[in-house]
Amino acid sequence: MDWKWKTIIEPFKIKTVEPLGFTTREERLKILEQAHYNLFNIRAEKVLIDLLTDSGTGAMSAAQWGGIMVGDESYAGARSYYNFEREIRHLTGFTEVIPVHQGRAAEKILFTLIGGKGKYIISNSHFDTTRANVEASGAQAVDFPSKEALDFDKPAPFKGNADLDAMEKFIEEKGAKNIPLCVMTVTNNSLGGQPVSMENLKGAQNMCRKYGIPMFLDCARFAENAYFIKLREKGYGCVPVREIAEAMFELADGTWMSSKKDAFANMGGFLALNNKEWSSRARQLLILTEGFATYGGLAGRDLEAIAIGLREVLDENYLQYRLRSSKYFGEGLLKLGIPIINPPGGHGVYINAKKFLPHIKPQNFPAQALACQLYLEGGIRGVEIGTLMFGRRDAKGSFLAAPMELVRLALPRRVYTQSHIDYVIEVMGMIAGNKNKVHGLDVIEAPRALAHFSAKLKPAQKSAPRRETAVCGRKGRG
Ligand code: F0G
Repeated sequence: MDWKWKTIIEPFKIKTVEPLGFTTREERLKILEQAHYNLFNIRAEKVLIDLLTDSGTGAMSAAQWGGIMVGDESYAGARSYYNFEREIRHLTGFTEVIPVHQGRAAEKILFTLIGGKGKYIISNSHFDTTRANVEASGAQAVDFPSKEALDFDKPAPFKGNADLDAMEKFIEEKGAKNIPLCVMTVTNNSLGGQPVSMENLKGAQNMCRKYGIPMFLDCARFAENAYFIKLREKGYGCVPVREIAEAMFELADGTWMSSKKDAFANMGGFLALNNKEWSSRARQLLILTEGFATYGGLAGRDLEAIAIGLREVLDENYLQYRLRSSKYFGEGLLKLGIPIINPPGGHGVYINAKKFLPHIKPQNFPAQALACQLYLEGGIRGVEIGTLMFGRRDAKGSFLAAPMELVRLALPRRVYTQSHIDYVIEVMGMIAGNKNKVHGLDVIEAPRALAHFSAKLKPAQKSAPRRETAVCGRKGRG
């Protein structure tokens, strides 16, 4: 790659388009009320720019659509499975390749096998479905994020790293026999999509070898992580990104992937490992809930699309554009004084709502309030990662706020262009200029588990917005 220009361009041309859902501010206020201030309850066609997730929302390439047409839908031994298996073996080096319908299905199978009461799974940070599956098995999920990760404002190159000293102390304390797995999540989604360095992965591998603990990668965004290593870690600037990715997998004993991210697929995933005993038990569980070993909950055409996507994602022109996009987005917000997890991660930006809206108390969900305001003003949908998602009540019923209040604006792959991002930045700028008018929310109703998906909320009592005053007054162009 010898791109010498300051302007990084989208490395594709657009062949198929889909219209955006334009609405007026007045309509959106009604939609928000009807959705009980929960953005999961809004119909996607009423969203202008959907940054809820980068999962399953990417645009497939012409080659992937071609693969869809030639998918082999045989129940057993489909050609598409062997294409899928070959691609994953080649990339990861793992021989046992088990397809699943999405990442959490791999987690369910794996932790059913190795979890259980009295066990601990250690990680740089578990993603929420990983944690939920670890805990559903009876085991405990314990995170060891690096210290830099918790200082959102101060940039550091590898905020996704694990704190290996703290991890080792924990292993000594609990005993390695009670720790069946160490998971390194690349990139670290729960803490801003931040990358893990090769040095940290090597350190984790050494430590795990010393104690006889297998190490797996949760590799949903492995290619973004590998490109960050190329950009930021000494000695990797000239190494092809594919070799960096292969070196990451070489350090691990196994991996699982939600292929809805860095494989550009709308659905799918896999578990890949060398341990024949684990893989044969995993295939038995696979048959119970997902399907036969050569399709595992997917259609043959999905397997084709994933195999092709895994090759495409390692194109350095693509990765250069991808990481430049999230950086551009982050820089735009920082210029307006909007606090984000800095630097931006690979798959989007995370706004620090606690710092941005200090006038809203945690029990009034500042991050959810900001996410709703973004929808109201601009038809933009993000996701709250804060007290609505992680807040708890203790045994006495007292309210416990989450340690962070973030709004994640995730970038679907190859979907939005620079002008879409400029628009989001403009809307955020307008909210920033009127932020004292952003009001908190009260919960009307929420289930105990995974509350953020179905909770109902309303504007907080004291500060219920009057229709005409809810931030900024003018009609949104969205
Ligand atoms: N691991 C990581 C790091 C993830 O980000 C996700 C999903 C999963 C596992 C589970 O995969 O959704 O295919 O079952 N993350 C999505 C998100 C949901 O929006 O970040 P899945």
